[in-house]
Amino acid sequence: MKTEAVILAAGLGTRMKSDIPKVLHPLGGRPMIAWTIAASKEATSGDPWVVIGPDAQDVQKAAGEGVKFVEQRERLGTGHALLQSAGQLRGRCDQVLVVHADLPLLGAQSMQRLIEIQERNPGPLTLLVAHSESSRGFGRILRNDDGNVIGIIEEAHASPQQLELQELNVGAYCYEADWLWDRLSQLPLSPKGEYYLTDLVAMAVNEGREVAVATVEHIDEVIGINTREHLAQAEFALRSKVNRDWMLAGVSILDPASTYIGPDVQLGRDTVLLPNTHLWGNTIIGAACHLGPNTIIRDSVMGDRCVVEASVMEGATLESDVDVGPFAHLRKGAYLGQGTHMGNFGEVKNSTLGAGVKMGHFAYVGDATIGDRVNIGAGTVTCNFDGERKHRTEIEEGAFIGSDTMLVAPVRIGREAQTGAGAVVTRDVPDKGVAVGAPARVIRKVK
Ligand code: UD1
Ligand code: CA
Repeated sequence: MKTEAVILAAGLGTRMKSDIPKVLHPLGGRPMIAWTIAASKEATSGDPWVVIGPDAQDVQKAAGEGVKFVEQRERLGTGHALLQSAGQLRGRCDQVLVVHADLPLLGAQSMQRLIEIQERNPGPLTLLVAHSESSRGFGRILRNDDGNVIGIIEEAHASPQQLELQELNVGAYCYEADWLWDRLSQLPLSPKGEYYLTDLVAMAVNEGREVAVATVEHIDEVIGINTREHLAQAEFALRSKVNRDWMLAGVSILDPASTYIGPDVQLGRDTVLLPNTHLWGNTIIGAACHLGPNTIIRDSVMGDRCVVEASVMEGATLESDVDVGPFAHLRKGAYLGQGTHMGNFGEVKNSTLGAGVKMGHFAYVGDATIGDRVNIGAGTVTCNFDGERKHRTEIEEGAFIGSDTMLVAPVRIGREAQTGAGAVVTRDVPDKGVAVGAPARVIRKVK
């Protein structure tokens, strides 16, 4: 049977008190809606349709490729939102999976279960339920004395007795497509002036048809986001799961509550994450690395046995056995070769450091190529910017750069050459040459 997914994302999310659409608030390093899109793709093996509000170009952008959009011009409720997709979807599939976009933790397995149960259900719909003492404002499932589902009552309209019910409507359904498209336009107007998708349940029951129920895998999956407090709860639940999975895969995490690992990060076994470590973007960490405490790494790659302590890396690469920090900053295009040592208060940008380079204390290396085993003394600066353009510094293998050397680029330091402490190097130094002194002198007079 062919199932297509529709994600309802046109709501205003007023309870977030935000200028940004609710589904764009970040969760676990992605916009919230990206999680639902990914799970629905996995569940249906196809591209989902997303119902968006007017002027939602930013939502379209965040949704990425392989997503189709339908606009709901007026926000007249969940039933009305789904109806907007009828024109596009009628006749295209046998079943329709519908998921609210504010349930970012709802996993593909729960969605798949809905689809499978509906495939076997002689009736026209299956709904996903959860059992919980905390209602989170969800609609309650109504059953008759025989235990059959007969309807859903919204919290706002529920009697005190109905409010006690602990079987909750999660906000995910699977429908027989033809039945759905015929009934959607017949939904009654609710007392709130909206068309409620939930009213389809009573409609099916009135027709004498069977409504089936699927139960969520994990209760955390139904953390729906209506407020920023819910968002923080979802972030915590997601983080706990991600960290648990990495620990099961052989990564040690000293303090999971303060460790953040993005969805696209990869980690090798026996790597140890110390408190307050943040790993984001397309980051790949090798085996047996020690990261943190207090370390932020984005879009970076490192080999095995690296140590990064209290430092920041963005778009940088480390070969194996590199140690960095504390208080180092590796910026875009920094490449540190095997066994490099980069100590405190260093910054490297758009530069390659060869194997075994030592750069122990505060230094700035930008737009440079540095050969193997070069020693960079404390306070060394590549003066790469003349106020208009950037220039490169080249330091050949085995050179020794004395403390506080200013390398005024473009400049080349030869193999095994040396510079004295405080040297201001404005001209190339030949292989094995030794350069000392500061040439600061007036080189141009204004008449
Ligand atoms: C809805 C359900 C409730 C369920 C809960 C759980 C209805 C009437 N109620 O309540 O039974 O327990 O979800 O998730 O369905 N949306 C639109 N267009 C609209 C209105 C909403 O696209 O005009 C989208 C929203 O973006 C959101 C989803 O539908 O993703 C649910 O809307 P929301 O207003 O959050 O409904 P709830 O009050 O949570
Ligand atoms: Ca909601």
